[in-house]
Order: sequence, then structure tokens, then C-alpha cells
Amino acid sequence: MASVDGFIGVFDSGVGGISVLRELVGLLPHEDFVFFGDSAHNPYGERGVDELRELSGGIVDSFLTEGAKAVVIACNTATSAAAAQLRLEHPSLPIVGVEPALKPATEHDPHDRILVMATPVTLRLDKFHRLAREFGSGSEVIAVPCVGLAHRIEQGDLDAPDLLELIEGLVGEYAGAVDSVVLGCTHYPFIARQIRQVLGDVPLFDGGAGTACRLRSLLSEASLLSPSKGKGRVELRSSLRGPGVLERYEEFFRMKA
Ligand code: DGL
Repeated sequence: MASVDGFIGVFDSGVGGISVLRELVGLLPHEDFVFFGDSAHNPYGERGVDELRELSGGIVDSFLTEGAKAVVIACNTATSAAAAQLRLEHPSLPIVGVEPALKPATEHDPHDRILVMATPVTLRLDKFHRLAREFGSGSEVIAVPCVGLAHRIEQGDLDAPDLLELIEGLVGEYAGAVDSVVLGCTHYPFIARQIRQVLGDVPLFDGGAGTACRLRSLLSEASLLSPSKGKGRVELRSSLRGPGVLERYEEFFRMKA
């Protein structure tokens, strides 16, 4: 049974979910958060759906064993692959996913051509096609599967020239030719500056803030908001063992957006 004193479990395939965690902590500073980065299995965006369901299910089970009161899937890919099944398995648990921010991009003017950068799995699964049908009918939605990009961000060293070359190779042809860009993978907000370096000064949309608002309303509806007035605890964990891993997570958590 979820308790107001429980923590909020947040997970991703690695450091990307920290971009969502920052929004969550900003909006809900009195809550306790445990972030789990499954860097040992990164990239999720190039794995099979069954495997993603199994990995996500295992993470949620261990959060629940430790007393989580809610779960945030801070990963577009895992949300597309596993959110529906997780909600079926845990009907009373508030579960919030993240999805490509196509709706805000279509509400912004102009919105004739919208570039969506995301993982191959996110762009292949139904959730994205439903979103595109629902919100994208008045725009040309250009969806680019960014193979290798999340995994490269995971390595850090974000100012290195090879990262810029990778972005250039993936989306360089759209420089000056789109009205906005949807960052449909939670790793990408960390390279907003580099994406603008390649594409020009376009508006960028990501799902982090919307996810935080959704979590707040679900917690409030379930009377699960923390009554504490103090600052909550934020704990970072990783499936990847080794020197420097959690230090790298800390760096992403503190990084200027
Ligand atoms: N950060 C994840 C997402 O939002 C997954 C990146 C990956 O592991 O491929 O899709």
C-alpha cells in the first residue's frame, strides 16, 4: 500500500532521465526521489520490446519492494514499450511516462515543419504514431531515428567535436528548414546547445516539464503528496558498476541546461 512517506522511483536507460529528474525535483522539492539509471543496458532505443518490458518490470518491482509510492518512467522508449503493461500489472500505483512533446510543438507558431528526434524504438511504436495522428495533422512531421545519439551522450564529454559531427550527420540537412524540434529522448535536452549549433536557433520542446506536472496531479489526486516542508532526498543509482559512474550522474544532475 503506497504511503505519503514513500519515495518516487524514477528510471531511464542512463543519464537521460536525469533531465526529467531535475524538472521533478524543481516542481516537487519536498519529495524523496530515487533515480535508477540502467546504463548497463543502454541504449534502450535499439533493443526489442519484450526485453524493454522485462527490464522496466524488474526496475519497478525493486522500487516497490523498497516502498516507492509512485514511479516515473523518465524514458520515451521505455514508456512506449512498457508503460501500458506496467499500469496493468500495478493498477493502484501512480505511473507517469514521458512522451515526445509534439502537442506543445504544434501549439507553437509557426508549426508547418516539425522535426522529431527520438530513438528508433520510440518512432517505430504505436504511441508515437497515435501522437502524430492526434496532433501532427496540421504540420509536416519529420521523424528522424537518431541511432547512436543517446549512447554517445551517455559517455559524457559533450563538447567533443565527434558529438557535433554525429548530430550533423543525423539532422544537419534540416538546418534552417524546420520551425521547431521535438527532443523525443530524455538524453537530448543535455545537448540542446549542440543541436542549436547544427540546426540554428529553433525552439526545442521536450516532455520533462509536462511529466513533472502530471506526477504532481496524480500524487495530489491520490493524496500522496508529501506533507514535509523540508527539502527531500535525491539519490542517484546505476546498474553500471565502476569508478566514476555516479560522479558522472552527479555532473549531469548539476549541469546547466
Ligand atoms: N533516454 C531514453 C529515451 O528517452 C532512451 C535512450 C536510449 O537508451 O536509447 O528514449
